[in-house]
Order: sequence, then structure tokens, then C-alpha cells
Amino acid sequence: MELTPRLETIARQVPQGSILADVGTDHGLLPVWLLLEGRISYAIASDLREGPLSRARETVEQHGVTGRVSLRLCDGLAGIEAGEADVVSIAGMGGETIATILEQAPWTRENTLLLLQPMTSFPDLRQWLLDHGYTVEQETICQEGSRMYTILTVRGGQDAPLTAAELWVGRNRPQPLRRAYLTMMENKVRRALDGQRASAHPDEAMVAHLEDVLAGMDAMKKELEA
Ligand SMILES: C[S@@+](CC[C@H](N)C(=O)[O-])C[C@H]1O[C@@H](n2cnc3c(N)ncnc32)[C@H](O)[C@@H]1O
Repeated sequence: MELTPRLETIARQVPQGSILADVGTDHGLLPVWLLLEGRISYAIASDLREGPLSRARETVEQHGVTGRVSLRLCDGLAGIEAGEADVVSIAGMGGETIATILEQAPWTRENTLLLLQPMTSFPDLRQWLLDHGYTVEQETICQEGSRMYTILTVRGGQDAPLTAAELWVGRNRPQPLRRAYLTMMENKVRRALDGQRASAHPDEAMVAHLEDVLAGMDAMKKELEA
């Protein structure tokens, strides 16, 4: 069984011997791969919908790990209690959905490693984490085809404030794909800015904010080159 680069990057952050709760598991590939690799001892795989959960059930049965995965139909972490898992992964969902899931499970601030891979709303998720007693210990960028993803390694704790640009792209810790990631996000912000400027009624506060974000990203690129 092979994982895509995105899922493999998440899997590599899971400490040996953990119990993993994979929220929004869909196909269930991440927990099953980790079990087959002997990296985790047990997994909870949850999903909001029956269709994805049946796909996870098929993966579990096909790979002979029934009994080592608890499949749960629930919204976010609603069906998982504090102490049941020491690592929680939430991947492939919008940043706002991830924040809503964590909001309903404050126990994740204690003794829990969170691996979060948002698809959208990056600034909202980073701000939410900062405001709700979580600290981003690391961000790992990976590439799958032409797309790049960032995986946030998070624990409970107080983090220092982030600038407007850092809310978009995380702190500027050097890593191989960091420069390419900055360029991709810069293009995203530039498109939003162009859209505002082309509008008959541009939101001036948003224009100023996006300009500030772009200036911050530019400074980050220079810092990496220095
Ligand atoms: C795009 S798939 C991602 C699957 C897998 N985590 C991955 O990264 O490849 C998103 C999954 O999250 C599930 N989902 C969405 N909102 C959820 C919620 N509030 N609680 C649990 N699962 C949710 C969806 O049903 C879907 O199966």
C-alpha cells in the first residue's frame, strides 16, 4: 500500500507507538498505512458521513487490520473522548471546519499532538489557533503534482503573535519547498488583490491588508535568500 506524498508527509510526523485519531478519514488510508508500518498501535478513524466511513471499513478489512481500528460515524471529535488518542490528524478539510472541530474538543489542548492539513482559510485557522491556546511547533510543506500543501504540527500552548503575512504562510522557517510555497501563496494573494482593484467598489481596507501581506511575503523571500 502506498500513500500519496501529502498523506505520507503527515504519516511521517506521527511518533512511533502512538494511538491515532484520524478525523475525516474518508478512504482510511492514513491509519491503515500507519498500522501496517507498525508505527501506531491502534487507530480511531472517524467521518461525518456513512459513504466515506464504508470506504474506510473496506480498506481496514482488505488489509487485515480489523480489530485494530475503531470506525466511528461522528461530527469531528464528537465521538472521541479525551485520552482515547494521543495524536489527532485532520487533513484535507477547510481551515474553518478544522477550527470548528477543535473548538468542540478543548481536550485537544492537553497532551495531544495535532497534525492539521488545511485546504483553505489558512489565515483564519492560524489566527484561531493563536487565540485559543495552541502553538504551531512546525509547518512541513509537501508537493503532490503541481499542488503544494502545508502540514501544521500543533500542541496546546501560547504562541507569539503573527504578522499579516505569517497568518497566510506561517513563520518563515527555512525548508526545501519554502520558497516555492511562498511564490504559490503570493500568486494567490496577488489574484485576490487584482480582483479587488478591478472591482467597481474595491474594499480599501482589504486592498491595504493584501498589500501588507504581499510586502511581508516579499520580505520573507529576501530573508530566505540572505
Ligand atoms: C477531502 S476528504 C479528506 C480525506 C483524508 N483525510 C485525506 O486527507 O485524504 C474530507 C473528509 O472529511 C469528512 N468531513 C468533513 N467534515 C467533517 C466533520 N465535521 N467531521 C468529520 N468528518 C468530516 C468528509 O466526509 C470527507 O470524507
